[in-house]
Amino acid sequence: MNLSAFAPVPPAHAYPGLFVSFEGGDGVGKTTQIELLSEALGKSGIAHRRTREPGGTELGAQIRRLLLHGGEVSPRAEALLYAADRAHHVDSVVRPALARGEVVLTDRYLDSSIAYQGAARALGPQEVRDLSLWATGGLLPDLTILLDAEPFVGAARAGARGPSDRLEQEPVAFHSALREQFLVLARQEPERIKVVDADRPVEEVAAEVCGLVERLIAVHGAGRS
Ligand code: TYD
Repeated sequence: MNLSAFAPVPPAHAYPGLFVSFEGGDGVGKTTQIELLSEALGKSGIAHRRTREPGGTELGAQIRRLLLHGGEVSPRAEALLYAADRAHHVDSVVRPALARGEVVLTDRYLDSSIAYQGAARALGPQEVRDLSLWATGGLLPDLTILLDAEPFVGAARAGARGPSDRLEQEPVAFHSALREQFLVLARQEPERIKVVDADRPVEEVAAEVCGLVERLIAVHGAGRS
C-alpha cells in the first residue's frame, strides 16, 4: 500500500493563488455575481478560473446528474456523493489552479454540504464538515461570500429560471433551515465567511462582492504573473 497517498496536503493559504467560494440558497444570484466578478477581474488582468460544485469536472458532471436529476438518493448517500464530487474537483481543478497562482472562484463548496446535508437534511453539521475536510485534505477557502436573501426571494428567482431540480422542489421550511445554518456558519467563521445582502439590485451586490475580492487580492497578490 502506498502510504504517501495519505500524507497531509497544503492548506489554501500555502498556495500562491487565492480560493474564493460563493454560497447561499437556491436562486440568490451566485452565478450572476460570479460572472460579473469574473468580468471585473478579467479587465484588471487577474488570472482566474470559474468553477462549480457539483459538476466542476467530467466525473463531477456525472455525479451531478445522479444527485439532481436521478431518482431518490438517501441522505447519507447524498452527502457522500457531494463529498466525492468535491474530492475530485479539489484534486484535479482547484489545487492545480491555486498552485499556478490563479484566483479560483467556485459556485458552492463545503459550506453548501454543511447547510444542505448537515442542517436541512439533519445529518449533523459537524459530521458533514469533517467528511468534506477529509475529502479535500482540509482545503478551506481563503474567502467565502455568502449571498443572503429571504428564501422566497431566492425561490422566486429560481422558479423564474425554468424547471427546478430535486432540491429546489423542497418545502419552504427546508430553505429556511438552510439560510439559518449558513448564517450560523458565518457567525462561527467571521474572518472567512462574509455575508452580503443579496436582496438588493444586482449592481449594488456586485460592487460589494468585487470590493471584498479585490481587497484580498491587493493584500495577497494572487492572479498577477
Ligand atoms: P445548482 O443548479 O448549482 O443550484 P444553485 O444554482 O442554486 O447553486 O444545483 C446545486 C444544488 O445542489 C443546490 O440545490 C444545492 C445542492 N448542493 C448540496 O445539497 N450540497 C452540496 O454540497 C452542494 C455543493 C450543492
